[in-house]
Amino acid sequence: MWLWDFLFGSWRERAAAPPRAEPCAAPAVCADPPADPLPDDLELLTEEPAPWWVPAEEPMLAPPCAEPEAGPVEAALAGFVEGAVCRNEIEVPALPRVAARALAMLRNDEVDFGQLAEVVCEDPALAARVLQLVNSAAFARMFKVDRLETAFAWLGCKKLRSAVLAVSLKTMLLGHSGSGRALSEEIWQHSIICAALLSYASERFGLSENEAFLSGLLHDIGKLVIVRLAETFQQSQRQRVPPATFRRLCEEWHEPLGHMIAAAWQLQSPLPEIIGEHHAPLREDDPLARQRALVQFANTCCALLGYSGDAPCDFFNLPSARVLGLTDDPATQKWLAKIPALVAEKTGLF
Ligand SMILES: [Fe+2]
Ligand SMILES: [Fe+2]
Repeated sequence: MWLWDFLFGSWRERAAAPPRAEPCAAPAVCADPPADPLPDDLELLTEEPAPWWVPAEEPMLAPPCAEPEAGPVEAALAGFVEGAVCRNEIEVPALPRVAARALAMLRNDEVDFGQLAEVVCEDPALAARVLQLVNSAAFARMFKVDRLETAFAWLGCKKLRSAVLAVSLKTMLLGHSGSGRALSEEIWQHSIICAALLSYASERFGLSENEAFLSGLLHDIGKLVIVRLAETFQQSQRQRVPPATFRRLCEEWHEPLGHMIAAAWQLQSPLPEIIGEHHAPLREDDPLARQRALVQFANTCCALLGYSGDAPCDFFNLPSARVLGLTDDPATQKWLAKIPALVAEKTGLF
């Protein structure tokens, strides 16, 4: 959970914040005690609510195949996106300049931290975030680190790479002020929730937390391209792109476009492979089936928790649950029950 402290503030800092006002407690002095037991229908109201993974409506095993409403705007935009892909005219979103140079240097595990510090210093915001991370509660130590070289040595190359990528994605999505700003915010919210979920789940499934975090954070990066193409289309055609149209285009294109970005950013294997095919049916002979299943698990959790995507789903009967061995038993229920609080705590959305 180290990166969460970096991006969203530490749990300790949150815990120190003033508590929310609690609902009024029962009055200290009661009037006459109730003479009769509660009638049956009132007893029903006090029942435990269903756990979050049990949908209120009839569950389903797959997202609904909504018939695309190919209105004129959608058809024109779909043609615009398809044309750009086929003609190889997709402009891959560039990482911020300093982050790109730092990531290139960090591909070498023997990187000279002094030279890296000179590069990172060119982006004061990034430098400040790295120092903030190393001084956060997650890396609590007896002394304050105020030199970048020392911070790099504490973090190590892998965590530093993840931190630079996370800060870059946040800047690219939330530093965006065009007409796609709301969509960008939605993508960022989904990405951070999935990153939190996969970071939490990595231990249970014996995967690297760093890799799981990045899979969650970056799996939908292809949507960045769709946001930008939709903006260009909107400006040139003076046609508003409805959110439903954007989502349908994402469904079709975000995986191959995500793979394109992952390759251009030179993300380490298996991230490009996971990003490029995270919604695909899970095959037994696929060596990355568990990683893909984890991303699908995070998407399902997002939907069932009401953040994004299609709900209801029949959680324990989904292919992702089967591949991950998630069954409806008390230990798994206990593990799942921690997720809403974890997401709330780590993203501050509640
Ligand atoms: Fe996706
Ligand atoms: Fe997703």
